[in-house]
Amino acid sequence: MTRFEGKVAIVTGASGGIGRATAARLAAEGARVCLVDMSQEALDDARPEGDHMIRVCDVSDEAQVAQVVTDVMKEWGRIDAVANNAGIICSKEPITENEMSDWTRVLGVNLIGVAHFIKHAGTVMAEQGSGAICNTASVAGIRSGAGGNAYSASKAGVINLTMTAACDLGGLGVRVNAVCPGLIETNMTKPVFDRARASGKEEKLGSRCELRRYGRPEEIAAAITFLLSDDASYITGQALPVDGGNTASLNLPGMKF
Ligand SMILES: NC(=O)c1ccc[n+]([C@@H]2O[C@H](COP(=O)([O-])OP(=O)(O)OC[C@H]3O[C@@H](n4cnc5c(N)ncnc54)[C@H](O)[C@@H]3O)[C@@H](O)[C@H]2O)c1
Repeated sequence: MTRFEGKVAIVTGASGGIGRATAARLAAEGARVCLVDMSQEALDDARPEGDHMIRVCDVSDEAQVAQVVTDVMKEWGRIDAVANNAGIICSKEPITENEMSDWTRVLGVNLIGVAHFIKHAGTVMAEQGSGAICNTASVAGIRSGAGGNAYSASKAGVINLTMTAACDLGGLGVRVNAVCPGLIETNMTKPVFDRARASGKEEKLGSRCELRRYGRPEEIAAAITFLLSDDASYITGQALPVDGGNTASLNLPGMKF
């Protein structure tokens, strides 16, 4: 497929599992891709085939995000797609034991970092009169139980920001959507997978999903790429669960036989 021929894309968290797969998929479909993440070394390792650039940038820092947008415009003169995918987790202790500094850190990256790129790349897209943004939220933003308090709240915030930004930018030709991944094997979830494998419970991973398995980064990348492409030209303001059916059912312990 060549859905992104002649187009320019930015992917954040591009050296992580889902971001790397997304950058590779966009590049394979013809996009010039700017890969954004925290470490030069990890970004070097994630370089896709095809025309690309890499930028070390902390998405929680507005000035750094603005600089990435300026650099991309200087190099390629347009921005057609942004995958706002960078994210961090927090510990899962009860709210009564939360460190509020953890909330500030997690919201700064997962929610405000997304807002930074919507603001700065969205401004460029609005001037162009076209563009698409896809934010990586999570099933944790829809239900409890899939992440700590600050993480889940940040992802719920991303889902709502997706709607409000879609309303702000829709009349200017810019679409904003989100994906809500279920359990995917990446660095972020490595401890969960390591623990399950060490205790011989690997087959239980993903067993609460209707498809009875966990997902692959490429399956999320495919959904992000779809929402960023013209195939999704009439979709905006939506948050699409890509979770093997996890959020589709009341799959509670003791209710499934
Ligand atoms: N893996 C899952 O099961 C799962 C499920 C739901 C949602 N998600 C979301 O998917 C996205 C990608 O996560 P992943 O699973 O690929 O994990 P990952 O840890 O492999 O990738 C996340 C990437 O984000 C980068 N990052 C973190 N803070 C950053 C910052 N301040 N600025 C720039 N980059 C930063 C990290 O360096 C890392 O490369 C995240 O937003 C995550 O919350 C993941």
